[in-house]
Amino acid sequence: MLRRRDFLASAAAAAALPVLPAGVSAQTAASPAGAPRIPPGFVWGASTSAYQIEGAVKEGGRLPSIWDTFSHTPGRIADGTNGDVACDHYNRYAGDVDLMSQAGFQAYRFSIAWPRVMPQGTGPVNPAGLDFYDRLVDKLLARNILPMACLYHWDLPQALQDRGGWHNRDIANWFTDYARATVSRLGDRVKPWAMLNEPSVHAIFGHGFGNHAPGLTGWESYVRAQHHQNLAQGTAITALRSVRSDLKLGTVFSLQPIFPSSPQPQDVAAASRFDACWNTINLDPLFHGRYPAGFEQAFAPLVQANDMAAIRVPVDFLGVNYYGPSWIKHDPAAFLAQAGYGAVPDGTPRTLLGWPISAQGLTQVLVRLRDGYGNPTTFITENGACYEDPAPANGVVNDPERTAYIRAHLDACAAAISQGCALNGYFVWSLLDNFEWAEGKRRRFGVTHVDFDTLARTPKASLLYLSQLMRAQGRAATP
Ligand code: FCB
Repeated sequence: MLRRRDFLASAAAAAALPVLPAGVSAQTAASPAGAPRIPPGFVWGASTSAYQIEGAVKEGGRLPSIWDTFSHTPGRIADGTNGDVACDHYNRYAGDVDLMSQAGFQAYRFSIAWPRVMPQGTGPVNPAGLDFYDRLVDKLLARNILPMACLYHWDLPQALQDRGGWHNRDIANWFTDYARATVSRLGDRVKPWAMLNEPSVHAIFGHGFGNHAPGLTGWESYVRAQHHQNLAQGTAITALRSVRSDLKLGTVFSLQPIFPSSPQPQDVAAASRFDACWNTINLDPLFHGRYPAGFEQAFAPLVQANDMAAIRVPVDFLGVNYYGPSWIKHDPAAFLAQAGYGAVPDGTPRTLLGWPISAQGLTQVLVRLRDGYGNPTTFITENGACYEDPAPANGVVNDPERTAYIRAHLDACAAAISQGCALNGYFVWSLLDNFEWAEGKRRRFGVTHVDFDTLARTPKASLLYLSQLMRAQGRAATP
C-alpha cells in the first residue's frame, strides 16, 4: 500500500523528472497560462469497473459473471489472463481510496458487481456482497470523495445468461429489481447513479462481433441486446425515482465522431449506419423516444406498445465515455448493417491499441449533445489512453504520451464548456492498470501502475500531472 509520505516523496521525485508533455513543466502545468481553462466547480474524478479491478471472484458469496466464463474460455483473451485477481481491489480498496485522496480526486466512478449483490441474478440479495460496497462508500466519504456508482459494467450474472441474458425481455425487470435492492442499501450515501455502461458497445462487441462476453454474434442478437438494455435503463430509472427523491439518476454512453474512410457513397452510407449503431441507437430513444431513422423496422419486432415511452425518461446527467473517432467503410460481410472499420487517414496519431486520437472529437460529441439532445448535464465518465509503459523507476512510471493525451482532452473539455456545453466534470480512465477485457492485462490504461505479480501500486507521471491540476483548481461543488 502506498502511504502518504511515499506518495509525496515520489511526487517530489517525479517533479524533477522530464516526464510532462513538451512545453509543460511541473510548474506551468497547473498555472493559469499552461493549464486547460476549466472553470471552478468542475468535478475531477477517476473511473474503474468491478470486474476489471476487484478480483476476489469467489469471495463474499459472489458467483460467476459472463466475464468469468468468457475469460476462462481458451482463446478468448489475448494474453490468456482473467479477472480472478485483477488488482485485488476487493481487499485493497482502502489503500486505493487513500491513493485517490492523496492525488486530490474529488469523485470516484466505480461499478457494482451484480453477481456480488444478487449472485443468481434474481431472488435473494446477498448481504455480504453489498457489505463490500458499503465499506467502499464509507471509506470514500471519510476521504471526502464523492461516490458515483454504475449499476452495470458488463458483468452479467452467468445464471441470467443461462436464462437468455440481454436477449430475454424479462431482463428489464431483473435489472430493475437488482437496481432497487442496491440503491435501497446505498442511496443514503451515494447520490449519482449511472444505470448502464456503454450499452451500444456491450451490444456490438458482446452480442454482435462476439469478441466480448457473452461472445454472441450476428445482427439479430445485437438488436435484441440493444433494445433490452434501453428498456432496462428506462424501467430502472423510473423505479429508482420512487426509492428516494434526492438521487441523481443517469446513464453512460460511449460517443464518438464517425467518418467515412473514403468519399465513395457506399462508405458514406456505411459511416452513417455505424453512427446510428454506436451513437444514436442510445441517444435517440432516451432523449427523443424513437430509434434512429432507418432502424425502426429492425427494432419493430421487439418494441411493444409502451416501450419507447418507458425508455424516454428524464435523466439528471449523462455520462460520456470518449476515446477517439472511427473511420468506417462499406463491408457487406460486417454484421453491423454492412458497416465495418475502414482505413484511418495517414498520419492520424494512434494509441497502442490502434485507436485514433482526436481531442477535437471530444468537443464535437459534446456540441452534438448541446445541439441535438437538449444540452444535458454531462460528465466525461471515461477518457484515457493505452500505451506501452516503462517499468517503475524511482517510485514513478514515466508516461509522457498518456499525460499529453489527457492534457489535450482536458483542453477539449475547456473548449466545449466555452461553447456552452453543459459539461460538469471529468473522470480519467482509469485509476489503475487493470484487466482490459479481451486484451487481458497486457494493455494498460491506468494513471497508476499495477504490478500484477506483487499488486504494488506506483503513480505514473499522468497521475502527478492530474494531481497538480486538481490541487490548483481547488475543490469543486458536488453534482
Ligand atoms: C471502455 C470501457 C472500459 C475500458 C475502456 C478502455 O469502452 O467502458 O471498461 O475498457 O473502454
